[in-house]
Amino acid sequence: MNETDLEAHLISIYRHLHQYPELSKQEFETTRFIEKWMRELDIPIRKTKLKTGVFADIKGGNPGPIVAVRADIDALPIEEKTGLPYASKIKGVMHACGHDFHTAALIGAACHLKRNQSQLNGTVRLLFQPAEELGGGAKQVIADGQLEGVEAIIGLHNKPELPVGTIGLKEGPLMAAVDRFHIVLQGKGSHAAIPQNGKDPIVTAGHLITALQTIVSRNVSPLQSAVVSVTKIIGGSTWNVIPGDVTLEGTIRSFDPAIREEVKTKLYTIVEAIATAFSQKVEIGWFPGPPPLVNHKAVTEIVRKAATQEVLDVIDPELSMAGEDFSYYLYNVPGTFAFFGTNGKEEWHHPEFTLDESALIQAANFLYKSSRALLN
Ligand code: NI
Repeated sequence: MNETDLEAHLISIYRHLHQYPELSKQEFETTRFIEKWMRELDIPIRKTKLKTGVFADIKGGNPGPIVAVRADIDALPIEEKTGLPYASKIKGVMHACGHDFHTAALIGAACHLKRNQSQLNGTVRLLFQPAEELGGGAKQVIADGQLEGVEAIIGLHNKPELPVGTIGLKEGPLMAAVDRFHIVLQGKGSHAAIPQNGKDPIVTAGHLITALQTIVSRNVSPLQSAVVSVTKIIGGSTWNVIPGDVTLEGTIRSFDPAIREEVKTKLYTIVEAIATAFSQKVEIGWFPGPPPLVNHKAVTEIVRKAATQEVLDVIDPELSMAGEDFSYYLYNVPGTFAFFGTNGKEEWHHPEFTLDESALIQAANFLYKSSRALLN
């Protein structure tokens, strides 16, 4: 297959995946589709206990280390509004984060690797990872033993605001830690006209939301960064009744483990103190997500050289407050995660999210070249 044929193939693979998106942990057809491609390319699939996801080894002709390349494969519960001829055929589900692009790019890299198998100095392990959007897929892949023997790992995410031909590479932190909180204020309901008989959790929630804004503005150093967002409030049923309880949900984002801990402590202090001040009970649920994504220096250096040889314009990317469960891999083996320019008009998770397909062959070539560079 020459480069033009491969590009046409990858675009058709990408469009197929885009039309049939599947939610996290339900990527059954996607898994079958990737398995079919592995068989087509004569790449042996590794055993797994996971119900979705595909893991495969391309063992080179020469001895050497194992390098892993990861692509995530899941989609989101979003109704697509792009109007593309190959838009999602699954109602309410969309590849709005471009994981279809990542999957197609890794299949492309696999084509190159397979063609050059006899010259590879070691093994490249392909990780088609499920359930990234839930933040737990990578952990399951690690628990499944797919990282065993791996000495370095790489992965990429499409980046709508970067032009095609540009790649963002950075050692150190790149993406944020993701924590979620769930607060239930337990007051006492009453007639809206007789508030003295109740304990109004709506007023308490108002104070709480305002006070939580001070964590970032008054506790975190202006030279550091964090986000505290209250994103969901449930309370009340009608206009003339004070409800008995209010539920709030939200997320915390941070890069530094010490800040991550400080914000959590402060949130507990504020929530508990305000609830007490308003004579209400409170329950706080805390759900830690992926840690910050921190790229390793040596691997990033090698990948940067490979990207430059691939005639990509390497830039220093802006940090992203979004989370990415690739960070779990980086806590186990050295590696790097790149932002790949796709010139989209909308951000990740938007119903009109699109990307430029001409970046696909570049991403496949980049994954191929950088995995080979790491083997060497
Ligand atoms: Ni994503």
